[in-house]
Amino acid sequence: MKQSNYVLLISMVAACGGLLFGFDTGVISGVLPFLKAHFALNDLMSGWIVSILTIGCVIGVMFSGNLADKYGRKNMLYMASFLFLVSVIGEATAQNIIIFQCFRFLGGLAVGTASVASPMYISEIAPADKRGKMVSINQLAIVTGILLGFFTNYFLAKTGDNNWRWMLVVMAIPSLALLILLFFVPRSPRWLASVGRSEKAMQVLQKIVGKDQASQELAEIQQSLSKKEEKSTLKGLLKSKSKSVLFIGILLAVFQQITGINAIMYYAPIIFESIGFSTDSALFQTILIGSINVLFTVVAMLFIDKKGRKPLLLTGSGIMAISLGILAFTINSSAGQYLILTCILVYIAAFAVSLGPVTWVLIAEIFPNKYRAIGMSVSTMFLWLFAFLIALFFPSILSGLGATGTFILFMLICIVAFFFYLFAIKETKNTKLEDVE
Ligand code: BGC
Repeated sequence: MKQSNYVLLISMVAACGGLLFGFDTGVISGVLPFLKAHFALNDLMSGWIVSILTIGCVIGVMFSGNLADKYGRKNMLYMASFLFLVSVIGEATAQNIIIFQCFRFLGGLAVGTASVASPMYISEIAPADKRGKMVSINQLAIVTGILLGFFTNYFLAKTGDNNWRWMLVVMAIPSLALLILLFFVPRSPRWLASVGRSEKAMQVLQKIVGKDQASQELAEIQQSLSKKEEKSTLKGLLKSKSKSVLFIGILLAVFQQITGINAIMYYAPIIFESIGFSTDSALFQTILIGSINVLFTVVAMLFIDKKGRKPLLLTGSGIMAISLGILAFTINSSAGQYLILTCILVYIAAFAVSLGPVTWVLIAEIFPNKYRAIGMSVSTMFLWLFAFLIALFFPSILSGLGATGTFILFMLICIVAFFFYLFAIKETKNTKLEDVE
């Protein structure tokens, strides 16, 4: 098999981690109304059911850095798919809400672990000139998962009283697939080198970069690992020269969330309803949003290695700010519903082409080999933490500031993000991980 096809194939397997993440995000919106009725949940409790997954993610991510260094990236993916499988079966068969919550928390541990392990693994096996595209496969898997979730919800909604159980149990398919397919993917060469298994690292490198380049690549990896720096712990990272990179990683993660994507994505159906689209077309709109998300992630993949990460971030955050600005001033006016619909779709497209994939790509490539696992896990922990906080506070922000005020707030954050990308981000396209250091 051609090297590039081989790398593509194993990246796709690793990206199944992203699919689980997205699938869960898409499915829960369909499960919730039935779950609410089945267990007689109030609003607070159903909000809690959604967010307990994110709490699991934060905790899963907290440990995944150290574990990924100790046991390897591939074993973390095994663990994530196994935990996910157990969690969906547990959720689908739960007889009371306490059991349901416990399994959902377990699912969070799995999603959190996969959200670090998948992009980390892909960034470590991908050749420099295709790394952006390869790591973006993970984001493509996330948004495809969301869309698949919407579809399966639709088709399973009419399966009777246990419909929500079926919606959940479908997720066993991608987790089982990941568990099986992982047998066929190699370990990360950079991790193998870091634990002294150079021969094995060499074998993998020969398969992914070719026999001619493998020795040089291994020598560069070993050199980067042998730098006399602190230990590869958080303390070590904070004492090293790469400390500032950690702050950039954290800010990238936080901006991806506080620019409002999840709030807008889930609030969209309510907005659509309030501007006069019928509830019947709710499914059509969610699928429209999901499809735009997928389509524009593909567009990002076409440009990320050619044009670079920074131009995408600047264009994306700029367009997000503009569409939010227009939305803020039209939402309560008599402007046509189609203008409002367009603003929302443009905002989603702009996120999908920029902050969506590029955040994950950069977080996976800005850290030195030695600190990648710990750096990624701390940054991703902030991503999940802010995802949780936005979900928790969005309803209060909305009722406090009103729709116009809320969109202006998100617009201002997009503008701050734009300047952060402009001044703090250095281009990393076409650069070997060892040279990014
Ligand atoms: C973000 C998620 C978001 C998804 C949807 C991901 O990159 O981390 O929070 O729901 O994209 O596009």
